[in-house]
Amino acid sequence: MENVLNKEIKEIIDACPEVGRILDEYGIGCVPCSVGSCLLKDVVGIHNLDPEQEATLMYRIEKAIYPGRNVPKPVVDKTKKSAPKKISYSPPVKKLVEEHVLIKRLLALIPTIVDYIEGSIKVDKELILKCVDFIRTYADKYHHMKEEDILFKYVDEKAEVIQVMYKDHDTGRAHIRQVVEGAERGNKAQIKEHLFGYRDLLTQHIKKEDEILYPWIDRQLSTAQVGEMFRKCNEADASVGDELPRKYERFIVELEEKFLQEVAK
Ligand SMILES: [Fe+2]
Ligand SMILES: [Fe+2]
Repeated sequence: MENVLNKEIKEIIDACPEVGRILDEYGIGCVPCSVGSCLLKDVVGIHNLDPEQEATLMYRIEKAIYPGRNVPKPVVDKTKKSAPKKISYSPPVKKLVEEHVLIKRLLALIPTIVDYIEGSIKVDKELILKCVDFIRTYADKYHHMKEEDILFKYVDEKAEVIQVMYKDHDTGRAHIRQVVEGAERGNKAQIKEHLFGYRDLLTQHIKKEDEILYPWIDRQLSTAQVGEMFRKCNEADASVGDELPRKYERFIVELEEKFLQEVAK
């Protein structure tokens, strides 16, 4: 099993698709991952399963890869109920999770905004560009930059999980460039395709960060590093001023009021 632990996950899944299905059951989404060069041992380690779950997962993977092998079954205490794990974040990471909440409020409005655009005679360019401004300034500059310039620097930036996050940020920026081009051209189909593309991408991206990446980073930080990171994040926030997050929060509230009325009509 030792040599399999050091193999890339895509290679293992290609040779034995059952492994992908088993990982999926544990909420480990390696099958749809675009890169897949994580080693099996890192894939399992990063998800921080409880010891019994991890032992059972490894047993099932080994049995799937080597069906004829006599693998000892792990002893599982069936009387013990595994309570859902409550994630507790360090203060600087908690702030990033809170910023996700505002971004998710915009993502939730995208289907209604797209319906509105499709139902209008002329594309509401001003509305699209205001949403783009929120995404570029709040989601990208204010939030993603703290991840890229501060948070990710505390772990091995070459780690695949971090590379996937960088790639997602870039893919998001490409979608938004397309949305702007669609707004300039009055091309409703282009706006729709890339607003939905952005929504799907960011929804998964935020879920991965909240549930997997941030807890994984937090587990590696010393108390001194948490303090240092908190100071750096506060300095980054202070450099843009208190008004910026307030302004974008007001924008989301206005958007929700406008579109909740549209839906109610
Ligand atoms: Fe991110
Ligand atoms: Fe994020």
